[in-house]
Amino acid sequence: MVNVHIHQFGAQNAVVDAEAIRVFQAQWTIYQKLVDNDHLSHRAVGRILKSVLAEHFAEPFAFLDIACGDASLAKTALAGTRVRHYQGIDLAKPALELAARNLADQPYDVDLDHRDFVAAIAGRSEHADAVWCGLSLHHLATDDKLRMFRGIRDAAGGRGVFLIYEPFLEDGEDHDQFLDRTWRAISVWWTSLSPAELDQIWQHIKSCDRPETADTWLSLGREAGFSTATQIFEDPSGLYRMFRYEVHGRP
Ligand SMILES: C[S@@+](CC[C@H](N)C(=O)[O-])C[C@H]1O[C@@H](n2cnc3c(N)ncnc32)[C@H](O)[C@@H]1O
Repeated sequence: MVNVHIHQFGAQNAVVDAEAIRVFQAQWTIYQKLVDNDHLSHRAVGRILKSVLAEHFAEPFAFLDIACGDASLAKTALAGTRVRHYQGIDLAKPALELAARNLADQPYDVDLDHRDFVAAIAGRSEHADAVWCGLSLHHLATDDKLRMFRGIRDAAGGRGVFLIYEPFLEDGEDHDQFLDRTWRAISVWWTSLSPAELDQIWQHIKSCDRPETADTWLSLGREAGFSTATQIFEDPSGLYRMFRYEVHGRP
């Protein structure tokens, strides 16, 4: 693993959603089952991310993966692009160890930071050309999401692109209606989970998820200073959408 470096950050970093992390770590095996069976549409999202990066960057670029998990989606998306440096941030040490193994011997340098992404983005001075965050910002309150978007905008510089993939509220939908819709979808789509596994994930969604409407996800980007904000994908279960933000709009 000559190209991979894991950095440990001190316990002084505040954790905004420590309960979500604890639950996620306990549920890593279940999450992997969802990914392996493509219930979260990781394959389609990886293909879209790859085509955006390939189209956007003719020159070598630095990629930041916020809440990288095991980095498997990014590894697929980055293959064949001009990426020169990968930085992943995650609070779950076992996930970073998997990421280190996944990214070993890739043709770019890899830094993996074991820390809270809120603290990492708030105190960030390094540049990143492309920033990606999958299924992780929705645990934050709206104000904290905006602070994250602003930090990411500052890090992204003049040719930056930022993409997210997150649950959303339908227009006019309240949180209880969101939960009803989510339960209906996951009980139909997440067929590879046992009833006990489905219930564990369901408890996590009920206690941790704070989705936004598409309009709010888009306006968070504009408010943070991105000049364009676009929805580019909705997964077939109707639970997740992908959004793209750019510093300068392209024709
Ligand atoms: C649902 S997984 C998503 C992983 C990956 N982005 C993907 O799309 O497969 C959420 C990840 O976010 C990490 N995470 C959640 N909150 C975090 C925080 N505040 N700081 C750093 N990592 C966090 C978890 O440890 C976990 O690896």
